[in-house]
Amino acid sequence: MYPFSLYLPTRIFGGENCIDNLPAAINSYGKNILVVYGGGSVKKSGLLDRVRNLLKDRMITEFSGITPNPKISKVREGVKLCRDNKIDVILSLGGTSVLDCSKHIAAAVGYEGDPWDLVKDPSKIGNCLPIFAVMTMSATGSEYDGVGVTSNEETHEKLMIASDKLFPVASFLDPTYTYTVSDYQTASGAADIISHVFEQYFVLDGNPLTDGFAESMLRTVFQSTPVALKDHENYEARYNLMLASAFGCGGLLAIARAPSPWPCHAIEHELSAWYDITHGAGLAIIIPHWMRYSLNEKTAVKFAQYGYRVWNIQNSGDVNADANKAIEATADFFRKIGIPASLKELDSRITDEHFEKMADHISKAWWDLKLSFAPIDRDGIVTIL
Ligand code: NZQ
Ligand code: ZN
Repeated sequence: MYPFSLYLPTRIFGGENCIDNLPAAINSYGKNILVVYGGGSVKKSGLLDRVRNLLKDRMITEFSGITPNPKISKVREGVKLCRDNKIDVILSLGGTSVLDCSKHIAAAVGYEGDPWDLVKDPSKIGNCLPIFAVMTMSATGSEYDGVGVTSNEETHEKLMIASDKLFPVASFLDPTYTYTVSDYQTASGAADIISHVFEQYFVLDGNPLTDGFAESMLRTVFQSTPVALKDHENYEARYNLMLASAFGCGGLLAIARAPSPWPCHAIEHELSAWYDITHGAGLAIIIPHWMRYSLNEKTAVKFAQYGYRVWNIQNSGDVNADANKAIEATADFFRKIGIPASLKELDSRITDEHFEKMADHISKAWWDLKLSFAPIDRDGIVTIL
């Protein structure tokens, strides 16, 4: 069992109409609010109007057009807007792309240099503006972590900005705001949640408590996703997904476990950086290949444990065979929820042209994948891709 430190300062409000708590929660943080949103889903759903109404006694500046895989150019634009309007607080309405862009802006407002510097050197992060988040998708866990992910269009890099100062002050999880999420984004979000659990669960040295948290989260997502896809307005299923999303990345699943370098995320971020693909869909394609690559005599027991406890696979006495069944059950799940089966099918532009460059970049800019569940070297990254 490993030592650990856990810091989770965000207040989470959950349930229908929990957004009614927003005015009181934001109250002491200032009058001038930057309301950030994406391509318009929050206008269609009525969320933006509701927020305007709830905050009618404040000065609101709107900043829209944040795209999936948010770009550093948009962060720069947001920083200028904050300075010009003397913004006190940032309120993110939408999925994580909006929230991560908000986090990066919050960190960069007080920094004189270029916002991309803060990705490369987090010690440059000083005071950050307070962030509030109303979530409309279940996927990344950004609502309960201190991480943002930003893409640099010029350098083909997609990297994290991370600091304890970037936890939202409060996040609002109303499942009804996720009713309008498309099937594709619902499935991709589920795959992302699953991957966050896998990245922490599949280590050689875990512990029973967090194994249990992880297995419970996995069962919840495997059961709730098909329900939410069939019946978009199923409150229970949507709520389950929101909860599983929130607890995926903040560190709870990693306490006292061996550290993991999150190999599937390393590889997916390279693909998004080059091809702007949907994060969760990319992960769902990578995961089964990573699992098959990682199966060996040391790791088979854990893959089999996952199969017994999450998929109710019967113990056949052959650990390797049971591990394989668990891996194929996972691949089958992703196919059934409608994720394309290969990178080529996901995006016809993807060939092996940049795979070597991606592997080199991971070696330079990410944690060491040789410390993964099964060690992955440069050639291993290319093999998985
Ligand atoms: O822009 P709008 O119109 O809002 O549409 C969005 C967007 O097109 C749409 N959407 C969101 N809520 C909706 C909705 N459409 C209809 N109804 C709703 N209620 O969904 C599309 C995708 O949104 P996005 O925010 O990009 O999705 P997601 O929340 O999955 O975020 C993905 C980003 O988060 C990063 C990913 O790499 C990617 O950049 N991640 C962030 C992490 C973190 N901060 O901790 C960790 C993750 O591992 C991940 O890397
Ligand atoms: Zn993720």
